[in-house]
This record gives sequence, C-alpha cells and structure tokens, in this order.
Amino acid sequence: MTNSFKLLALGGDGIGPEVVGCALKVVESAASGEDIAIDVAEDLLGGAAWDVHGTFCTDQTFETARSADAVLVGAVGGPQWDNIVLPGPPEEKDGLMRLRMGLDAYVGMRPARSFASLESLLPYRDGLATGADVLVLREMTGGAFFGTPRGIDRPQGGPRVGYDNSIYDENQIARFAHAGFRLARTRRGQLVCADKANVMETYVLWREVVSEVALEYPDVAFECLYADNVSYQLARDPKRFDVILSDNLFGDMLSDQAGAIAGSLGMLPSACLSGLAGDGGRTSGIYEPVHGSAPDIAGGGIANPIGTILSAAMMFEHSFARPDIARRIETAVNTALEGGCRTADLGGTATSAEMTEAVLQALR
Ligand code: NAI
Ligand code: MG
Repeated sequence: MTNSFKLLALGGDGIGPEVVGCALKVVESAASGEDIAIDVAEDLLGGAAWDVHGTFCTDQTFETARSADAVLVGAVGGPQWDNIVLPGPPEEKDGLMRLRMGLDAYVGMRPARSFASLESLLPYRDGLATGADVLVLREMTGGAFFGTPRGIDRPQGGPRVGYDNSIYDENQIARFAHAGFRLARTRRGQLVCADKANVMETYVLWREVVSEVALEYPDVAFECLYADNVSYQLARDPKRFDVILSDNLFGDMLSDQAGAIAGSLGMLPSACLSGLAGDGGRTSGIYEPVHGSAPDIAGGGIANPIGTILSAAMMFEHSFARPDIARRIETAVNTALEGGCRTADLGGTATSAEMTEAVLQALR
C-alpha cells in the first residue's frame, strides 16, 4: 500500500530557496520507485513572506504547516529585514520561531558526524575526530529564549536593564529527557546531560528531573556534566560523546560547536520534532539545515546543499517512518563526497546543482 504524505517546503531567504530546491530533487528521486507518495506544497517564510504579506509567517502558512506531515525549511533572515523589529515574544517576531512554537516542535535533533573523505578539512589533529558521531539534543520551545518576564527597561530613570527568564517546568524537562533516552537507545546507548546545576536553579531542577527519568532507562549509560566542561571535552575529544542532552541555550551553542567535526556549516542537518514517534511510527517535524541564509553567497548557486539534503533524510526517518530511504540518501551523500565532489565551502568548485547531481547519480 502506498503511504501518502504532505510536505510543506519553505525556502525562506538568501540561499534557503536554492538549497531547498536541491533537496526537493533528492526527495523526489529517493521516493520514486518506492511505495510512498509525497505531495509537495511550497510557500514563503521570513523576509520573503514579509515582502509580500507584511508578516514573517502568514496564518495560512502556519495552518498549512500544522496540517502537513513535515515542513522543510531553508533559512530565514538577512540584512534587508534586520531593522524590522516587531513587539512581542520571539514567536511573534520571527516566522521560524512561530512554526517551532506553534507546532510544539520541542525535540531539536542536531547530529554531527565526521566524514572520512573530509577529514583534511577539520580543525582537529590527525585522527582525533575520525568516526566522531555526536547527537546534540536541544530543547526548542522553552528556557531562556522564551521565558517571561523579559525586556529592556529603565527602572526609576536609572541605567537601562536588560533581562530574560531561564525557566522550565518539570513536565517540559521530563518529556524532552524521555525523547533523549529513547534516541540514545537507537544509537550507542550513552547520554550526557549538559547543564549548570552548580550555579543556576533552572539547571538544578533540570538535572534532578533528567536523573529521575534516567532511572527508567538503566540500559543507557548516563552522566551529568557541566555545560562548560562538555564544551571543553567536545573540543578535545569529540569521540567521547554519543547523545548530549541540553536546554535551549546550551543546546544552541553545543550543537554549533559539535558541527566542527563535520567539515563545514553547510554539511549540518537538523530536525525539530513534535515529540518522538513510537516504534515504527511517525511524528511531524520541521527539518532544516543548521546554517543561515548566507547573504554573502546567496544567488550564486554555490551553496552546499548537503545540510538540507541530510535534513530531508531525517524527514524520511522520523516523519515518514522510512529509515531505509534515509539511509539510502545518507549513503548517496557519502558516495558523492568520496567521488570528490566539493562545493566552495569544502574547498572545491562544484556548484549546488553539480553537488546535487552527484548525490542523485549515487541514488540511482
Ligand atoms: P550563515 O549560516 O548564514 O553564514 C555563515 C557563513 O557560512 C557565511 O560565510 C556563509 O556563506 C557560510 N555558509 C552558510 N551556509 C552555507 C552553505 N550551505 N554553503 C556554503 N557556505 C555556507 O550565518 P550568518 O551569516 O550568521 O547569518 C546570515 C543570516 O541568516 C542572518 O540574517 C541570520 O539571522 C540568519 N540565520 C538564520 C538561521 C535559520 O533560519 N535557521 C540560522 C542562522 C542564521
Ligand atoms: Mg545556533
């Protein structure tokens, strides 16, 4: 029986539409000949939506995203929209934040692994990162990025004061921790909780709740480390880590840092899932490369599409329950790289289209 899925593709700004266009070709090719049908709708997000509709994400786009099985996003933002400052919380100022919050896409998956064929590009001494494969899990819908009260005030005419509120309730922490332990089980069975329980109350609760959840997963090797130490250990010995579980703030930083083992920002995929599916099941999610809109190279057709292509592979796994197709795409990316295809960020001269063609050829 053919399973049908609805995919909403939001190219966004800068190189976003370029890399999403590349990934959609791979999606189409990977699905052809399989018992899966993907109905693709395209729409605007970010600055591109602002220019047409005067909002970064229209209600209609939001509703389409909510009824889709998966959303594939390029990137949003750019200097031409930097000065548009809207009042309100992040989800009212930014189209992508609106989608993440509105879809309750709280499980941020940011995998980074080293590619044998790209090792010479890495900032690590010989072999130090060989075979490194780290999954940073970032809680996406809470913590300091969304907590209230927040603002910049001038109390009693004194100096200006800027403040945010790092806040989590135990249910938010527990549901995210469960997702983390379940994902660790599908990998090498190790999970490190990264926090600052030594100085902040948020993280005292964070560590307490994650440790309680850990008791339900005795088969997963569990360890709590301070986030600054995790950062140091990642820089020294990335192979030490399997899954790193962290809140919104530390997850943002640690996932960028872990990205150093992949050779280029353009290689990194991500997923924001609205929960984790049961065995063999599906969940909805937002899939996007980790990089931004890269205004410096936008329009040149030279962006590396692999981060977006690998994000699409994650979509097949988590939203379409087709890990087999995900593996085929990942293998095709490896083959294209081993064949020597390199975009500019990887020290080569291949265009986005040529890199995509190399992946498509390997898929066939
Ligand atoms: P960026 O990721 O767009 O670019 C950083 C550097 O990496 C640039 O030199 C760029 O050319 C290069 N780069 C990024 N992706 C690449 C790719 N696929 N292939 C080859 N080179 C690549 O980060 P930046 O410059 O800090 O931000 C630019 C804009 O993107 C800003 O408006 C920012 O707000 C936005 N942004 C959006 C994100 C999102 O939509 N998720 C995430 C990060 C930034
Ligand atoms: Mg970041």
